Amino acid sequence: MYKNLRNFIDHLEKNGELLIVDREVSPYLEISKFTDRESKKPRGGKALLFTHVKNSDVPVATNIFGSPRRICMALGVNHLDELGARVHKYLNLSPPGSFKDAFAMLPMALEASRFFPRAFKGKTPPCQEVVYKGADVDLSRLPILHCWPRDAGPFVTLPLVFTRSLVTGKRNMGMYRLQVFDKNTTGMHWHIHKDGSHFFNEYREAGCRMPVSVAIGADPATTYAATAPMPRGVDELLLAGFIRKKPVVMAKCLTNDLTVPAEAEFVLEGFVTPGELRREGPFGDHTGYYSLADDYPVFHVTAVTHRENPVYSATLVGPPPMEDCYLAKATERLFLPMLQMVMPEVRDYWLPWEGVFHNIVVVSLDKEFPGHAQKLISGLWGQGQMSFCKVITVVDKEINPQDTAAVIDLLVGRLDIMTDLTHAKGILDVLDHSSPFANFGAKLGIDLTRRFPGEPPRSRRTSLPSKDTGVDLIGRIKDRVPESINCRHLFEDRESHGTPANRFLAVSVARPDNKSSRETGRELMDIPALSPFNIVILFDREIDLSNGSLMLWKVFNNVDPARDIDFVGHRVVVNACKKGPADGHDRPWPDELTFD
Ligand SMILES: Cc1cc2nc3c(=O)[nH]c(=O)nc-3n(C[C@H](O)[C@H](O)[C@H](O)COP(=O)(O)O)c2cc1C
Repeated sequence: MYKNLRNFIDHLEKNGELLIVDREVSPYLEISKFTDRESKKPRGGKALLFTHVKNSDVPVATNIFGSPRRICMALGVNHLDELGARVHKYLNLSPPGSFKDAFAMLPMALEASRFFPRAFKGKTPPCQEVVYKGADVDLSRLPILHCWPRDAGPFVTLPLVFTRSLVTGKRNMGMYRLQVFDKNTTGMHWHIHKDGSHFFNEYREAGCRMPVSVAIGADPATTYAATAPMPRGVDELLLAGFIRKKPVVMAKCLTNDLTVPAEAEFVLEGFVTPGELRREGPFGDHTGYYSLADDYPVFHVTAVTHRENPVYSATLVGPPPMEDCYLAKATERLFLPMLQMVMPEVRDYWLPWEGVFHNIVVVSLDKEFPGHAQKLISGLWGQGQMSFCKVITVVDKEINPQDTAAVIDLLVGRLDIMTDLTHAKGILDVLDHSSPFANFGAKLGIDLTRRFPGEPPRSRRTSLPSKDTGVDLIGRIKDRVPESINCRHLFEDRESHGTPANRFLAVSVARPDNKSSRETGRELMDIPALSPFNIVILFDREIDLSNGSLMLWKVFNNVDPARDIDFVGHRVVVNACKKGPADGHDRPWPDELTFD
């Protein structure tokens, strides 16, 4: 296990996982463009170390977690499931029934105590080898990246933010981006549902300043742990110690009473003040869109400390796949046993990249009784950060949720749109842009499990008219709906596996601004040549209908399940287009991320 970031970078280099870029590059868009290109290469490309950064002496590392191999190297395993298996072993610790059991458990209990963070014992922790305090603080010395063309400024994108509850004294480490406003202030972008924001509310009620410290460039397990959705009150540093099998050594800050990883490359110390908010963003986000500008607390930096010859660690988030997909994958695997503790009926689950963490999860269920899938769906909508999830699809335990072809077979051969969909309302991730309301909106459960006696039967499948092969479909569509651009019969190859219960048609349209996509969808449903299709999905004109991943990404990001799934008799139009006032969507719709 790595003591610090530089050990990990050395390890990446020795294992052929690092590309050193020694020509001059700018932190303004150039490093991010190279990173984007690299992370889109097959299997995540390489980690990048930019050693010659314009206007800075500090090298910049990106994409260090961004491949199946590197995320395993970062977390010290050969396969991410090993982490889940270790968690499972610990969760199975139950009070000993006998002396013999107690002795059998002893090594594990002793091992567990090794994971608690320890205090740095020595004179100067590495992260404080160089110190700037007060008026000497100048964030422009750090090579902080301006990632996307329309970002509001440079953002620290891989920060470990340390706070402490005013009520319980418990520590939290979360990852919340920081927009640099000037030489000593930044935004503090903790979303309303996150622990940092919860602690901030405690200070706000008490009317006192909240100390905050930020570490940048810790050992990789600790950096990962800041992103992990640990229950509130459970210290993420314990998780980091568990992954490393070694405690994280923490050093006392110089200008507030928090502690930070002693081996970090950089530390920003300071505070936020209740009542002081400032407009932050837009910022090119995980969703592949710019997250909208909004008001967030201001972080006042009272000290910047760093190691001698520090390395600045950053990530680029944007249209998947990117580095954050691998961090999310680690969370998916690590948290499975914890989810199973609360819901033992869960066999496995999958959060596809295209769902950008919160938009879709596919779960396999060991079904025992009627309504079990609905129980699971409701339960998941109440579990920690799983409650952000917009769409939950449930399959039987025999189906591997990551087996896309098997799940598509169920969508084509089994899904009954009249009886298998569960609609609900609830919290949505701050990054959701599909709902007409911020942070709140519609959710959809899709039950693809076998029916049990007592559950309403699925409707008969013979009702879909057969498809006439010789028809010029797009010609017929354009005759009636001139804004149509292209169409494609989806999953046609899977229909040979039996009588289709559903036929899916994707149609791209160049919709006039004053026409709602619902109107376009309804006109399409009236076209006789489309009668063999009972699920029509609308996309904007620029969407390449041969790119399955792109289409899924659009569906999961852009569809509000209440407004954008329009039932027309026993058929349905799913509207994955951009929305505007003509659709009754009065919130701004974010721009998609592209480099110019
Ligand atoms: C690269 C990266 C950047 C992130 N940025 C933010 C952010 O700016 N704000 C936020 O609330 N969550 C952000 N997250 C997600 C949180 O770090 C994650 O939800 C974490 O569990 C929050 O910790 P908490 O539960 O202790 O609040 C980010 C995640 C990653 C991987």
